[in-house]
Amino acid sequence: MAARIDGNVAIVTGAGSGIGEAIARRFAEENAAVVIAECNHAAGARVEADIRARGGRALFIPTDVSRAPEVEAMVRRSVAEFGRLDILVNNAAIQILGRLAETSEEDWDRIQSVNLKGVFLCSKYAIPEMLRTGGGSIVNIASVLALVGDPDLAAYCAAKGGVLALTRAAALAYGPLGIRVNAVCPGDVDTPMVRDYFNKDPNPEALRREISSKYALRRIAEPREIAEAALYLASDASSFITGTALVIDGGLTAKCY
Ligand SMILES: NC(=O)c1ccc[n+]([C@@H]2O[C@H](COP(=O)([O-])OP(=O)(O)OC[C@H]3O[C@@H](n4cnc5c(N)ncnc54)[C@H](O)[C@@H]3O)[C@@H](O)[C@H]2O)c1
Repeated sequence: MAARIDGNVAIVTGAGSGIGEAIARRFAEENAAVVIAECNHAAGARVEADIRARGGRALFIPTDVSRAPEVEAMVRRSVAEFGRLDILVNNAAIQILGRLAETSEEDWDRIQSVNLKGVFLCSKYAIPEMLRTGGGSIVNIASVLALVGDPDLAAYCAAKGGVLALTRAAALAYGPLGIRVNAVCPGDVDTPMVRDYFNKDPNPEALRREISSKYALRRIAEPREIAEAALYLASDASSFITGTALVIDGGLTAKCY
């Protein structure tokens, strides 16, 4: 079945950059109306303008996903503008390096509030709107770090593991009411988040080559490759899939030794 979201209304959080931007653009190509819920004003406005210039429907709503009043207002405005809500992609997240004992309480709280509480808040306010029109689809962008560890990203790993647990709980609660909830678990994707990580190394290109060599496909992903999976999970093409995590990692976690 083709992945059809023609005429649907989708909120994509963190759509001003990287994976979220690629998802917003891909959904707009499929003729969905896309809300760009993003805290970086310049980035959100740029993606809105680009999608509109290509004839798509897009609305940038400045939003910090960790703040309940902003999320509630963003969902309300999305529905006021486009009349309904069919799809939510919880993509916004931040990454702060740190081993467990070196992570400050402030960094821990910030990561949990954006990466995990943000998923909770956006879903909390989106679900009633989806129920009003008989259902919808929520796609949570988790990470392979929800499944395997990274010693230097303790708080991030914990938040992403929480996203998977929340995905399952929500899928069970709202499946009977017509809402599917799934996650995707990407490996490294060539976005500003990962480029920042490479650039902290004295030799970013050598680090990129070393990391790429760990993948069966010998490269990291392009944002558009994650967007295709988000489109599949958002659309009726995946109509019997809920409560799952789709790993998109070029074979990274297939390997033991
Ligand atoms: N890039 C990777 O390798 C990779 C791998 C696995 C998972 N992921 C996940 O994919 C998602 C997107 O990552 P990316 O690499 O595109 O990151 P990115 O940093 O390029 O983009 C993230 C976007 O989220 C926005 N954002 C941050 N905090 C926000 C907040 N509080 N409210 C609203 N918007 C906020 C940023 O402004 C930015 O536009 C994240 O959930 C990330 O954890 C990324």
